[in-house]
Amino acid sequence: MSNSILTFANKGLEDLHPYEPGRPIEDVIAEYGPKKVVKLASNENPLGASPKAKEVLNLLSNDLHLYPDGDAKELKDSIGELEKVHSSQIIIGNGSNEIIEIAARAFLNNNTSALMSKHAFAVYKIISQSCGSKVIEVPMLNWSHDLGSFKDYLSENTRIIFVANPNNPTGTFNSQYEFKSMMQEIPSSVLVVLDLAYFEYVESVDYINVQELLNEYNNILITKTFSKIHGIASLRVGYGLCSEELCSVLNKVRQPFNVNFIAQKAAIAAIHDEDHIQKSKELNSSERQRVNFALKSIGMDCIDSQGNFITFKGAFDAQDIFIRLMKRGVIVRPMALYDMPEYIRMTIGTKEENDYFLDNIGELL
Ligand SMILES: Cc1ncc(COP(=O)(O)O)c(C=O)c1O
Repeated sequence: MSNSILTFANKGLEDLHPYEPGRPIEDVIAEYGPKKVVKLASNENPLGASPKAKEVLNLLSNDLHLYPDGDAKELKDSIGELEKVHSSQIIIGNGSNEIIEIAARAFLNNNTSALMSKHAFAVYKIISQSCGSKVIEVPMLNWSHDLGSFKDYLSENTRIIFVANPNNPTGTFNSQYEFKSMMQEIPSSVLVVLDLAYFEYVESVDYINVQELLNEYNNILITKTFSKIHGIASLRVGYGLCSEELCSVLNKVRQPFNVNFIAQKAAIAAIHDEDHIQKSKELNSSERQRVNFALKSIGMDCIDSQGNFITFKGAFDAQDIFIRLMKRGVIVRPMALYDMPEYIRMTIGTKEENDYFLDNIGELL
């Protein structure tokens, strides 16, 4: 009778390290007091939110007492138009993390295993383990998912494979060909969650074709987010695309009203803000190239990235550089949590933010 409730927490929680978000600007000012702070720690959009989304927010205060549309119909219609899928194939989440969590809650438990790369986005492991599932990590090949070897790690109880493409924190991507080759080797009794949070930043022509994958596979769930290119991370909106049948199973797990009214309206405006999307892509493309070059020219070893961030190492102690940069008002992310203790990840900011980062890291070396 004296057993604490804590002893009954789901298997896997005991040795689970919680997700560590980027340090908030206010915290850094309170702890170190820098005069200026540039946050390049959470892969946010340096141009801010879509101006169209901001405009819409000003008009919404009259309806705050009403529950949001639990089915997010208008938002699904806008996404359906963009992705060329029927709204019965779309599930809306409180960030794409919630879609990942819903999939895990629907298919993972004490008797299952989930497969993912080592150094994959941390949330996959956290969510899988918290559902009681075993986690199997596949070694990476040159910091990319080694999709060709995933089949060798499957076991009978594997229920989900998680693939972020591009991957966070490595920034590497896999081509449509590589991805489809893996799909052909995976039984249809395994759900493949393909996380495309950084989809819009990818410039390689052989990248993923969403339509083709949805048409060919019933065991795929593709996730996307409004937190990156659309710049509304604070509002928490993401979505999943899959077969109609899978979507109705996932919708059983989803809480009613999981995405609030303001977030739905802002996402609808943001999806149509082509000007902001284009400007954000262009800025990221030119600055990613410039920062990559500048880092390499001061001796840094950068992993080639197709995302809105660069992960790199140098002849330094990454934890020490992280703290010293923070004291100077530059927040980046140390990668020890991803088992990459020598590495730092910086988000591509505006030109001015990136210069501030480059000047400071240059002075510290
Ligand atoms: C690969 C990847 N997937 C998903 C997410 C979560 O995005 P959201 O804000 O939509 O929950 C992130 C956030 O950084 C990410 O890097």
